[in-house]
Formats: sequence, C-alpha cells, structure tokens
Amino acid sequence: MTGHSRAPISLESGGVAVVFDVGSAEIPSVVYWGDARGFEVSGGAEELVATASPAVMNSSTDRARAFTILPTEREGWSGTPGIEVGRSHHALAVRLALTAVEQTAHRVAFTLVDDAAGFEVVATYALDEFGILDWSARVTNRGDGILDVSAVRALLPLPGRADEILDQTGRWSHERVAQRTPVRDGIHHRQVRRGRPGHDSPLVTAVGARGFGFRRGELWTTHVAWSGDQEWLVERVPEGAGTLSSVLGAGELLRAGEIRLAPGESYGSPHVLFGWSKAGLDGASARYHAHVRSFPSHPTTPRPLALNTWEAVYFDHDATRLSALARRAADVGVERFVLDDGWFRGRHDDRVGLGDWTVDGVSWPDGLGTISDVVHGLQMQFGLWFEPEMVNLDSELARAHPEWILAPEGDPGRSWRHQFVLNLAEPAASEYLFEAISSLVREYAIDFIKWDHNRDLHEAVSRRDGFPSVHAQTTATYALLDRLLAAHPGLEIESCASGGARIDLGILRRTHRVWASDTNDPIERQSIQRWTGILVPPELIGSHVGPTESHTTHRVSNLSFRMVTALFGHAGIEWDLSVVPDDEIDQLRRWATFYKSRRALLHTGTTVRADLVDPALLLHGVVDAERSHALFALVATASTDRAHSERIAFPGLDPQQTYRIRVVTELGQPSYQQVKSPAWISAPEIAPMSGWLLTEAGLPMPIMNPGNALLFEVTRA
Ligand code: GLA
Repeated sequence: MTGHSRAPISLESGGVAVVFDVGSAEIPSVVYWGDARGFEVSGGAEELVATASPAVMNSSTDRARAFTILPTEREGWSGTPGIEVGRSHHALAVRLALTAVEQTAHRVAFTLVDDAAGFEVVATYALDEFGILDWSARVTNRGDGILDVSAVRALLPLPGRADEILDQTGRWSHERVAQRTPVRDGIHHRQVRRGRPGHDSPLVTAVGARGFGFRRGELWTTHVAWSGDQEWLVERVPEGAGTLSSVLGAGELLRAGEIRLAPGESYGSPHVLFGWSKAGLDGASARYHAHVRSFPSHPTTPRPLALNTWEAVYFDHDATRLSALARRAADVGVERFVLDDGWFRGRHDDRVGLGDWTVDGVSWPDGLGTISDVVHGLQMQFGLWFEPEMVNLDSELARAHPEWILAPEGDPGRSWRHQFVLNLAEPAASEYLFEAISSLVREYAIDFIKWDHNRDLHEAVSRRDGFPSVHAQTTATYALLDRLLAAHPGLEIESCASGGARIDLGILRRTHRVWASDTNDPIERQSIQRWTGILVPPELIGSHVGPTESHTTHRVSNLSFRMVTALFGHAGIEWDLSVVPDDEIDQLRRWATFYKSRRALLHTGTTVRADLVDPALLLHGVVDAERSHALFALVATASTDRAHSERIAFPGLDPQQTYRIRVVTELGQPSYQQVKSPAWISAPEIAPMSGWLLTEAGLPMPIMNPGNALLFEVTRA
C-alpha cells in the first residue's frame, strides 16, 4: 500500500504485535509493542489508537504530548530526540510530516519529510516470523547545501511495569558481565566510542519487570546490529512517553561532521533489533537465535572441531613442530587446523609486521604450503589468521602508505598493542587487502579466516580530509568481507577482536563464528558463553579446550570441566598437544567423538538456562525442537554454602513426556564433596522419569567441588 491513510497499522508475527497510531499526532507513534495474543479478536489496534491520547497536565503543552517514531520538541517531547540534523553549523528545528506509508504483511515504511529544512527520512519497521522487530532509517538531503546528520535513533516506548534494566559490560578476557539497575527518571546511557562494540558491549539491553530471569518475566530488549560506534539508552522523563512510561532505544553514535550529506545524498542507519519476551531471557534468546539462524550466511555444515595454534606456539612458528601438531590434532579428531598470528613477514612479536600480508621467509622458507598441504592431506580444513584493518608502524605497508593510517596527520596518537588502524575507506587500501588476502586464499586453499581486530579506534579521522571516519570504516570493512566471501564461495570467517570485542549482528551477517574471549579458563568461559548466548546461538560461539593452567588467569582446572564447557559452543582445542599425556589425549579423543555425535542437537536446539538460587551453581542446556533429546551441564563455579542437595529442575522439557536421564561419563567425572551421591543417581540403573519430575519438581543433585561440571543427557523414553 502506498499513500497515506490515517488508519492504525499493526504488524503481527511470531506472537508479537507492534501497533502504530498514524492519525493522532504529526507523525506516527508506536502505541503498543508486546504480546499478540488475543489481539486480533479484540480489535486491539483500533482500541489502542482510540485511547492513545494522554491527559493534558498542568504546566504542560496545551495539546496532549505525543511520543512519535522520531520524537522531537515539536510534539512536546523533552527527552532524547529521535533525530538531530543541522545546516551551516546550526541545529534545525525538525518538523516532519508523513507523506507516504508503504506496507506489506510484516513491514511498514514511513516516509517523513521536512520541507522547510529540506530533508526526508524513511523509517522502516519489519517484524520477522520469530517476533524480532528490525528498525532502520534512511535520511536524504532534499535541500541545498550540506545536511549534517548528528543522530537518528530507534526509540520505542515501554510500559511502567518494565522497571529494571539488564545489560552487559566487561573487559579483556572477562567479557559479558551482566549488570542490573532500576529504571529511574533520567537516562541509562551507554555510548560505544571504540569503533567496535568493545569488550564492554551492552550486547543486549533488556528492560523488564523487576526480578526477571532466564525463565521468568516479561521483558523488552534491543540490540544494535552494527560494528562501529553505538549509542544505547533507557530513558524516563516524568511526563512519560505518550501513554507509556519509559523509552528503550539505540542507534549509531556519530561524531561532529561525520555524516555530511550533499544534496541528494543519503545516510543509512544501522539496523536496530527489538525482541519482546514473556518467557524471560530464554524467550528473548529463542527469538534472536531463530533470527540469526535465518541469515543467508548462517552455516549449514556441521561445525568442524577446530584446533587453534595460538596458546600452543604463540609467535614461535616452526614448520616441523606445527606439522607434528597438525598430525596429533588429526589423530584426536580435529577437523579444522587454524594457524594463528605469527606467519607473515617479520612477525616475531606484536610490534612488527601487521599490514605485510606475505608469508615470512624465515619461519616458512617454502611458503605455507608446508603446513596447508599437511593439514589438507590429513583431511582437515586449513584456517589462517589475519588482522586486515590494522598496521604496525614497523611494516613495509606503513612505510609505503602513511596516508592510509586512520589517525591525525603527523602524530598518529597512542599506539595500542603497538598498532594503528588502516583506513579501509581509502579505496586503494581496501583493494590492497582484497588482493593480498584473495591470493593467499587461492594459493593455500584456505577454508577459514580468523579475522582479528585488536584495538579500539581512537581519533579515527581520515588523513584525506580530517573528518571522523568510523562510519565509513565500518561500512568499508563490511564491503571488504562481502567481496571476499563473494570471490571465495565456501570460505568461512571468524570475528575476533582481542577475544569478544566485536560481536554483533552486523558482523555476523558476514561471518560464521565469533571468538567469545581470549580466556579459555572454563570458570570465566561459563559466564562469558552464557551471556554471549543471550544473542548468539551456540554454534557460532567459538569455545576451546585450553591448557590445564589457564594462560590468562593461571587458574588450574580439570580436563573434564574444560571439555564440558567447550562442548556448548563451536568446539575446539587451543593447547600444545605435544605436552598432553596419553590418558588426556584419549579423553580428548572421546570428547571429540561425543561432540561430533551430539552437535546436531547442540547446534540447532533451544538454549535453556535455569534461574538457580545458589550463586555457586549454574545449570544450562540445549533441548531439541521436539523436546525429546537434551544435554544439560550442571556447573559448580564456586563453593556452595549449602550442606544439602536441594531439588533442581531441568528447564525446557515437556512435563507430559517420560524421559531417560543419564550422567555422561565418557568425558571424565567431576570431583565431589560428599560421601555419596543422592540415591537416584548412584543407583546401578536410573529408572525412566516423568517430564514433570524433571522439569517442574526437580531432582536432588550431587555436591561438586568448585570448578567441576556434571553433564546429563536426557532422551525421551
Ligand atoms: C588476539 C586474539 C587471539 C590471538 C592473538 C594473536 O589477541 O584474540 O586469539 O589471535 O590476537 O595476536
């Protein structure tokens, strides 16, 4: 439908409804975002619109305030505006009018025009079959002279019962730390000024009724599908948002002068996603996971068991040693061998070589064929590490092309891991990278690239014109990835950024795995994977069994716990297998077999996480679509202060079914802090149990020592 009717518009899909009031204010407003149940029957959209006007308050605008899709002061909105634009160094008073509505079953695009200011915005809302609402906006300069775009934000109103915020923060090797805060008047404002989402990325911001958990509560969430600077906010002003209360929103964070549109030019915003759930965080994750699994780029082949060389050899590349490692890996059951940092010209440490993407003649006198042939000969895939967007000043590239450095002219500012950023918006720089990477992919039949990004972008201004360039850098990175993938069908790419500093659904539309963290310590990993998994399904989360003593935390943990932890992701090994004793090699072999036989379940099922009262315990699992097969891990991350084994329920099973439950012992056993396990588990054979007992009442559990995990397999009897 094109044209402009004033009838309410409702999108309904995946059990979610979003209702727009098109007639009451200057431009449309969202008057409802939530449960679709009962909605059609009651004619909800008309009723909502008929009742969408709030009271006119004392000391207020004389006409009721509205909270529109791009709220501004014009409608009496005093909170953060939906759009900020300017011309010739002054901000414009924005006065948009709706000129066209284009609607299909699950998508609506509103064209809004400000004739006086000379610009147009098309705001698009698409609700997918999984109930994820995808917002994007395009701003076009329809006037004379330059239009400066400072902000375009996706803002949705929330009801007052959504009074608690949960998002994430973190640091290197300790990503995804969940934090909660009450909704109050004012703004909970997260600004990402790192040129990448960062180790402290909000990832998913959820606002729900206080005390919401994994399995309980109604909540509203957002995610910015963008790998550059970002802005996230939850805001409440005393006058509310229309007839609702607070605002959940996000968008790209733009620097002054970053987006300057010549007449006729457009700015396309990132996509901002919104997911509502009445079934806690697990309900939101189920929607996000289904959304991600529908990406054209989502892998359809079994996720190969990987071995990465980083914690095995670091920069110490030696063809004989690495070939032996490859053979040992194949013997254990590894299917993809990834040669990490250290293979290219002059790269003996992290001070030198970034940018020079040719093979180092000292470590690899006969080229990388020495290792890629061995790897392919062992029927494994061959993966190679790159960090395309970065450069060491000590490199041929930096010496030849200082103008490609994304930093102020002259003094480039503070180095970070001894490196600077390459300006990919310089066409010649991107062309150089495309050619360099492409020729290596061809020459060595590279199956997989680990694409790293090891610093924040600071003072990221183009040396060509001095203007901020994170937006251009982000779109140029996407274009380079897209071009490489198009040129090399079947090539897979991992998004790594000093561990998990670039995890978002912009990069995941063109990559096939994320490196969740540089820590392989299973205690850290349990929590990092749990919270990364709010957004990203397990088959895309790289998770490796590392050395006995973690290289990042120096904590020692047993192999069984490390293996159970890595099992619930795209599994791999990152360990010098030449020092691993034979009994542990056997254990790894059994784990590899187990992973391969269960990955179909682990990589397509529903992720479930229990809300346990004991802070020393975690319980998580994956249940298949029929609820007939599941794997659960009960994890002791610390010493419990309980001296008894209370019943714990396995989330996500069908109370109507009967199940067989078994403790998986192939991967080794946890160590216990008890004389004897509860009787049901120590019996020679565990009798079938009702789904009700397992998922509602629960079972008493053994008490483990800290740093141990117990793996359960549940199958329909
Ligand atoms: C980053 C990555 C690591 C490893 C190193 C190599 O830190 O996160 O996994 O690849 O770079 O320099």
